[in-house]
Amino acid sequence: MDYSKLKIPNHVALIVDGNGRWATEKGMNRSAGHKQGFLNLKKLTAYIFSKNIKCISAYLFSTENFKRSQMEVSFIMGLLTDQLQDILNFCHEEKIKAVFSGRKEHLSDKVLKAINKIEKETEIYNDRLFNICFNYGGHAEIIDATKKIVKDVQNGNLDINKLDENMFNKYLYHELPPVDLMIRTSGEQRLSNFMLWQNSYAEFYFPKTYFPDFDEKEFDKAIVEYTKRDRRFGGIDYEN
Ligand code: IPE
Ligand code: IPE
Ligand code: MG
Repeated sequence: MDYSKLKIPNHVALIVDGNGRWATEKGMNRSAGHKQGFLNLKKLTAYIFSKNIKCISAYLFSTENFKRSQMEVSFIMGLLTDQLQDILNFCHEEKIKAVFSGRKEHLSDKVLKAINKIEKETEIYNDRLFNICFNYGGHAEIIDATKKIVKDVQNGNLDINKLDENMFNKYLYHELPPVDLMIRTSGEQRLSNFMLWQNSYAEFYFPKTYFPDFDEKEFDKAIVEYTKRDRRFGGIDYEN
């Protein structure tokens, strides 16, 4: 699709949802859906970056997803582990900085080492940003930021009176631009604890499609819809 007449968001955030239902409805086990979801994510992120969108956040595993069966959790952990080298190669090829948002606890040493390596090696790229949310929770992120702030105030490194939105943003897992377009696949219309701070003025789009089927054409539709949205940020355009 020709994007030249469309409004291009700077930051697109994706809640990858519906993998399980995609598989179950096809008579397969949920794991097959997660596998297909990861494959699709790879294709879709390449497409989104090719459209000159600078920042993508993807919600792949929430702090609450540990409530799932041990089998499902370890399958998803395994999938991520297998994908990490691929993610690194992709980021080098496309000159993308990759960062991981989420709590480090409950992640294996192997995953943590790989995450560190990816973040370090891709730190040199400044044009595009891929924020991978894994073991992520919006409440956890705000609590973790608050703890860092309190520490800095106690150390004398931060004057609490100087704390504003801009500075608070720097205390989050990563300093990210605000989300412009938040897409949640599978028809669910909720945030499920996703980027509560960064989504404050995002446009929300809720396609019915399950994530493994959310392809380039489906993404094009999201951008067409985004183009139609009138973003006011609390102001009023008195000219119109
Ligand atoms: C998204 O798909 C992946 C994760 C949350 C880990 P789901 O696993 O939530 O799939 P549904 O919503 O049950 O279909
Ligand atoms: C949100 O999806 C988390 C991710 C997509 C990683 P869930 O499937 O866990 O959310 P709920 O339980 O339907 O709210
Ligand atoms: Mg779900």
